[in-house]
Amino acid sequence: MGHYGEPRVARIALERLLLFQNSVYTEITENTLLELVHKVGSNPIMSDESSTAQAVAPCPRSLHWFAQTLVVLTFLLITVGGMVTSHDAGLSVPDWPTTFEYNMFTFPLSYMVGGIFYEHGHRLLASGVGFLTIILALWVTLSDPRRWMKITAWAALGLVIIQGVLGGLTVLYMTPPSISVSHASLALIFFCTTITIAASTSSRWSSLALRWKEPKPAIFRYAVAVLLIIFVQILMGAYMRHTWDSEYGLAVLGFPLSNGQLIPEFTDSVVLVHFIHRWFAFAVAGAIVAFVLSVFTRANHLMHLVFPSLILLMLTLTQIMLGILTVLGERKIYMTSLHQANGALLFGIAYMIVLRSLFPAEASAVEKQTAKEGSSNEYPLPV
Ligand code: HEM
Repeated sequence: MGHYGEPRVARIALERLLLFQNSVYTEITENTLLELVHKVGSNPIMSDESSTAQAVAPCPRSLHWFAQTLVVLTFLLITVGGMVTSHDAGLSVPDWPTTFEYNMFTFPLSYMVGGIFYEHGHRLLASGVGFLTIILALWVTLSDPRRWMKITAWAALGLVIIQGVLGGLTVLYMTPPSISVSHASLALIFFCTTITIAASTSSRWSSLALRWKEPKPAIFRYAVAVLLIIFVQILMGAYMRHTWDSEYGLAVLGFPLSNGQLIPEFTDSVVLVHFIHRWFAFAVAGAIVAFVLSVFTRANHLMHLVFPSLILLMLTLTQIMLGILTVLGERKIYMTSLHQANGALLFGIAYMIVLRSLFPAEASAVEKQTAKEGSSNEYPLPV
């Protein structure tokens, strides 16, 4: 049985192996499997020298759920952070790490009114996310055998600490744009690390990872390009949101005309960035449409990307609509908040697509099989 201590685990691994080798899954009998289990050590894919599937260890499914919860809470935290900006509430609490000289955890809830509600609420939620990230880092260290996973989990903790300090400095230095924009961008990078941990503790990843060391599919580079384009667009959004004094209203009014002109006078860097942001959105949408088309034209090979790329396209169209409504409504609070939150979601989905596109097409057949098997509390975890 080689190094596979558990027959069930070895059996699942062999079933997957046979799928990869284009064997007819339904023809696999119990005996064939048992025979193959004994040959595991000599199989080039399953042997110790192999780069894939060489270690199988049980991993608690609860770790995956925990990581997923952290992803959801992080998205919520980013949304609440956006609401702090939309309500112009960044300086409602003038001190940090205390809240009106109270320890932030003993600050009376009855005082959480107006802007304080958003700013202090954001701090509390951020502390919760930070606390859960500590637990996650410890849990991963104790139960996940993969070195890169431990590094990612501790990197997530490092990021959340830096993020907290940046948030504090934003307050202490009265929301300087450079710190506020860094705070907004780092939030997305932290979001991506939580998504990485949640995705790579799933049983789906466990099966997909059997092909991890294969050459990266061409679609991977395309997905990375799409992610970077979206990131640049979000950076521009953050720059104008945090640089422009909102008391002046929007830097560029009206749509499709800008301040009544096809091309406005660029009296301020924010006017220029706003103008680029509104039209670059269509370049972003074009790149995403092209990505979706390329997934669809190779759909039989890229089945695992079809659904997420459709979601990505839908979120992009929604995002453009929300952006236009933000301008036409002259920065209505709920509209800017929705635009910011949907932007973060869009980025998260684009990142998930990047992760998924790491795996070759054939893996999706195995993935479906694993999803069917996913009822147990433990699953095989290739390193
Ligand atoms: C793919 C398309 C788009 C993406 C990903 C995107 C993303 C974002 C994000 C994330 C923010 C907030 C940044 C932050 O607070 O950290 C933002 C702000 C903004 N976006 Fe977009 N956007 C897109 C399209 C558009 C379009 C088409 C328009 C207008 C026609 C627009 C107008 C604005 C405006 C006016 C703001 C600043 C709102 C404020 O001052 O509160 N966006 N964008």
